[in-house]
Amino acid sequence: MYRISDRKREKMDKNSQTLKIGLATTAVQSWKGEALVIGVYEGGEAQPALAHCGKKVEQEVRKRLDEGWMRGGLGESLLLPTQPGSGLAIDRLLLLGMGKKEALNTESFRTLGGHITQLCHKARIASCHLLLTLDPHHKAKNRRQQIPVLEALAEGAWLADYRFEQYKSKESKKEEANNTPFKQMLCGTAGERQAQEKKRLAEVEAITRGVALARDLANQPGNILNPEALALQARQLSERLSAIKTTVYSEKMLARKGMQGILAVGGGSQSLPRLIIMEYRKGGDRPVLAVVGKGITFDSGGISLKPGEGMGDMKFDMCGAAAVFGLLQTAAELEWPINLVGIVPAAENLPSGTAQRPGDVIRMANGLFVEVLNTDAEGRLILADALHHAASYKPAAIIDLATLTGACAVALGSHASGLMGNDNSLLRQLEKAGDASGDRVWRLPMFSEYQEQIKSTVADIKNIGGRVGGAITAGCFLSRFVDEKQAWAHIDIAGTAYDLNSSRPHFPKGAAGVGVRLLSRFIQSHWL
Ligand code: BES
Ligand code: MN
Ligand code: ZN
Repeated sequence: MYRISDRKREKMDKNSQTLKIGLATTAVQSWKGEALVIGVYEGGEAQPALAHCGKKVEQEVRKRLDEGWMRGGLGESLLLPTQPGSGLAIDRLLLLGMGKKEALNTESFRTLGGHITQLCHKARIASCHLLLTLDPHHKAKNRRQQIPVLEALAEGAWLADYRFEQYKSKESKKEEANNTPFKQMLCGTAGERQAQEKKRLAEVEAITRGVALARDLANQPGNILNPEALALQARQLSERLSAIKTTVYSEKMLARKGMQGILAVGGGSQSLPRLIIMEYRKGGDRPVLAVVGKGITFDSGGISLKPGEGMGDMKFDMCGAAAVFGLLQTAAELEWPINLVGIVPAAENLPSGTAQRPGDVIRMANGLFVEVLNTDAEGRLILADALHHAASYKPAAIIDLATLTGACAVALGSHASGLMGNDNSLLRQLEKAGDASGDRVWRLPMFSEYQEQIKSTVADIKNIGGRVGGAITAGCFLSRFVDEKQAWAHIDIAGTAYDLNSSRPHFPKGAAGVGVRLLSRFIQSHWL
């Protein structure tokens, strides 16, 4: 069996961002660095902050804008050298298009932050200063409407500063050449509330580091990251952050617990399934939040084999699990005073002589009998046992994240994850956290009628619910393993978890790390 070697382990940690983001506290004239970033609205109007750069620079920029060198569309850019005697200690101006002034929202600033990272990377700029954050336009009278410009810019910049290059040897790295990494970004602020801003930046950094961990895990191929390797990653996480306690159930323990859902799905692979439990208990006698993540390290479909085209994407079928890892890391790094339990059922879904077959009936950990009519509907089987186990921690809420159904991706595309559950206030809180974090969710109904679709003729329920409403019937299946009185939410991330053609700068191609920002915000708003 392949294992992640020690050398690779070390490397995995290094995939995380190296970019430092801080606050510039002095006047522009004393700033040193390779580039000064100045925002330009659509139509060629420079941000008022340009006035801070002195007359010479201002005139030069206005002249170029008047000449139409750049329009100011979101993400558009223009590099200008600063003229001798400009009064600035920086030799390049990076004019950055901000799009329409009225259309700017928090996500635009994340996107802009992402563009800055990308531009600096391409232009080999190791350190830059930002004037963007000074503009009074973004300061609404009402505190609630105010765009958190600095945080959003930093978040976008950090999210974009991610590359998965572990398997690129020096030669192929050279082709995509860039040996000067983007190392530092300093943001000019209006100087108010510096201490608060610093604290917020530290939070954003830890959250984006959680996203990077989630991406790192999810981008790993199936031959490297099998269930046992994922368990090893959990053990290493608790080595690194001692507040996290990891427990791993191997097949013996799974059998003892009656977790046939996990065992049946994982039974077709030489890499046997695991249940990974990561406990972070720094909340004293506060309530417990349980987060469950689907950890199918590769989903071939099993005996109900998937078509070959695009099957490689199914290494991403553990993105839910990856988000749980990322969230735990963030919680521990920020020392949140909460009780968080992360539960990851991990299995590889392969066809073989020991694999389960369509028509099999299995007895789940909660005693329900399930008729497995399609071995490709495996996520719900492993999650069922994990959700049942989650209840044993008597949590105030259980939230599961899973790349569960293609149907959800069809319904919502890649801009929102599917949200289902049994507790309206929990779902409302998640919707709000989604809007605020940019890691959005959209609710699907769970009317009782849908439950009819998973009735089985031979067992209690079956694992497929017919052609229509596939995301919902999968959610309904899960609901049968959660007590009605237990607050629970299910988030289907099949459409949002990864994007191999991403054009958003803060989402490099591959795993998106969804769920980490959503649940971090949810915890910040309701559990701290
Ligand atoms: N992991 C897949 C769902 C998926 C599809 C995730 C596309 C990401 C992108 C899941 O295990 C699956 O195969 N679901 C089936 C369920 C069906 C057999 C009821 C599906 O969606 O087709
Ligand atoms: Mn499947
Ligand atoms: Zn799957």
